Amino acid sequence: MKRETRINHPPTIELPEGNRPLVPPIHRSVKFTFPTIEDSLRPEARTSGFEYMRDSNPTTRELELLCAELQGRDDAIAVATGMAAVWLVLLGTLAAGDRIVIFVESYRPTRVAVRRFLSRFGVEFSMLSIHDLDGIERELARPETKVVLFESPTNPMLHVADIGAIVELAKRHGVVTVLDNTFAGLHNHGRFDIDLYVHSLTKYANGHGDVMGGVVIGERARIKALRPQAVNLGATLDPGAAYLITRGLKTYSLRFARHSENALAIARYLETRPEVQRVHYPGLPDHPGHELAKRQMEDFGGVLCFDLDSDEAGAWRFIDALELFATTASLGSTDSLVAPTKLYAAGDLSDEELAVSGIKPSTIRLAVGLEHVDDLIADLERAFERWKSG
Ligand SMILES: Cc1ncc(COP(=O)(O)O)c(C=O)c1O
Repeated sequence: MKRETRINHPPTIELPEGNRPLVPPIHRSVKFTFPTIEDSLRPEARTSGFEYMRDSNPTTRELELLCAELQGRDDAIAVATGMAAVWLVLLGTLAAGDRIVIFVESYRPTRVAVRRFLSRFGVEFSMLSIHDLDGIERELARPETKVVLFESPTNPMLHVADIGAIVELAKRHGVVTVLDNTFAGLHNHGRFDIDLYVHSLTKYANGHGDVMGGVVIGERARIKALRPQAVNLGATLDPGAAYLITRGLKTYSLRFARHSENALAIARYLETRPEVQRVHYPGLPDHPGHELAKRQMEDFGGVLCFDLDSDEAGAWRFIDALELFATTASLGSTDSLVAPTKLYAAGDLSDEELAVSGIKPSTIRLAVGLEHVDDLIADLERAFERWKSG
């Protein structure tokens, strides 16, 4: 064999039977083959073999099955980002003439996907408040309504949805329930009869702020029905990203617990500050969604908002005075982040909708990281002092 040929057909290392790596390797191959065409057509090759990375890849498949199990379902499709997961569900469950119910309090790009882009393809929408159960029932009862897509707690203002009530209404009217469970995490809300869960794996799952991913999770039949759409859409998760997310998940439980602990301590601290009008965190006993959240969730996550007793410019000044909190969107990674809520999360909302969501010009969102909470509180304390002294 000439050198050029050998380089392209290098020696392969076959492991003896029973000899396995403790960390599964990254299958960084777009194509998979079989010795013969006949082998490739055998039933087990068709059901569990691999062909082309856009269809599937063993590394990505490992992540899919892990996510499904963590959420208490039996299958999942991993995609390139959380928004690709949202889009996969929209494209896979709706057709022209159908209607979807969405919520004012939800993540802005999801509202944009439905209101600005999906509407171009003849899908109508109703946008309500997540607390408007009468309105939800009315909209779900319309025969053209096919899907309800919601979050709990919502991004950014941490409203807690009554998941049981929404699921019951949706089942009564044969509407598919989709819960974007990114804020609550893969370990929460599995006991509800949700048809499809969506997660941005970019957040708590990966946890290190260095890779993007998304997943749609559900029962086998529902995922099987979505799979051809996913393969054709081509928003495939790269196996390198899948590997990093699977690695990140190894510390998921530890990290989620610390995010939640830190966020609760900071929420309690902010409640003591005279400069703060209101703290929004479902872990606080006086949060309007606390009792519901306690029944629905194991823990409350790392994101909280607070309203400064100030205007928008004052909130920006406070944010600029922080040192350990980096000013940017996102959440669920090791570093603490801070965001001016109205500017970053609500550009598409009217004044009325802002009021429904509870977003004020002075609202600040914190995505609490894994630093020592004493340092984070000291940073906030310093920022208050600087802010007051102008
Ligand atoms: C609730 C929620 N859903 C979906 C997404 C989109 O995720 P990605 O940025 O991975 O596309 C985000 C991102 O912040 C989110 O917070």
